[in-house]
Parts: sequence; C-alpha cells; structure tokens
Amino acid sequence: MAARNQPANVKQLPVADRERMVLDEGAIEAARHSLNHGAVTPNYGPWREDIIKLLNDSLATEVVCVLRYKRHHFTADGLASPKIAEEFLVHANEESAHADRIARRIVQLGGEPDFSPDSLATRSHAAYDDSADLKAMIKANLVAERVAIEAYSQMIALIGDKDSTTRRLLEDILSDEQEHAEELKDWLAN
Ligand SMILES: [Fe+2]
Ligand SMILES: [Fe+2]
Repeated sequence: MAARNQPANVKQLPVADRERMVLDEGAIEAARHSLNHGAVTPNYGPWREDIIKLLNDSLATEVVCVLRYKRHHFTADGLASPKIAEEFLVHANEESAHADRIARRIVQLGGEPDFSPDSLATRSHAAYDDSADLKAMIKANLVAERVAIEAYSQMIALIGDKDSTTRRLLEDILSDEQEHAEELKDWLAN
C-alpha cells in the first residue's frame, strides 16, 4: 500500500535498501590519533587547502577594507561630514573583526593566515581607494561591499556542507557586509 501523502505510483524501497543513519566508526577511531591536527579530523575531506586559500583571499580583502575605511574616516572628517566619517570608522572596526575571525579559522584548520603587505592588494577582491571627495568615497566603499558580498556568496555555495563551521562564519560576515552596503546606498542617495 502507498504511504500516506504519497502518490500511488511512487514505490517505497524496502527499509534495508534505504540509506541508513549510522556513524562511520572507523573515522571516529581515526579521530583518536593525529592529535597535532587539533580540530581537523581525518574525515574533514580533501578540500582543506582550497578552503584555507579562499579564506586567505578573504582575509586580504578584509584588511584592504580596513585600510580603505580608515583612510576615509580620517579624510572625510575634514569635509564637514563628521557623522559619515564616524560611520566609516565603525565599518573599519567591523571589517577588522571579520579579519580576526577569518584568521582564527585559518589557524584552526591548520593553515597560516597571510598578512603579508606585499601581496595584500593583489589577493584582495576589493580595491583600496584614496578619493578626496565624499561621494566618491561612499561609492568606492559600496563597490567594495558589493564585491565582498558576491565573493562570500560564492564561497558559501562552494563550501556547502563540506565545512559547516566555516560556512556559518562566512554567512555571519556576509550579513554584516549586506548591512554595510545598505547603509552606503542610503548615504549615496542623500
Ligand atoms: Fe568585512
Ligand atoms: Fe563591509
């Protein structure tokens, strides 16, 4: 007989043939060893290096965003825009917190956070900006936020269920970047 709410022509598989929800005991046993790998267990998967690389590019992006917002904070102050200048500093501090969280996750994955100033600009998805005009500053920041939103969205899709801790971290950061972009869009309209 067809299961309730199931069309009559859908055949139910025997229980034995359905995928069972059982743990991989071998992987649990393997987790008892290689203690120097910390939080990374043998079942983590072959994508560790790729995820560390993606995170390091995001780290570079966040650091460049800190530098751009700091530059704008100090120069916008002189343009009689103290409110927006203060908001640039708020954004700078939030991007700095993003960088710290990403660096911490890279280390947790057994990687090395790359803060090298020589390659920051080339690895960053977003650009630095030293515009002197307030509107141009807001626009440059909005472009950078939109670039970050696109990069984080793609990373979240790529990571999927391969690393739920990293995915949640990126989802958290993404929602901050979306708030930043909304604010900048409003300032640009005013
Ligand atoms: Fe950020
Ligand atoms: Fe942002």
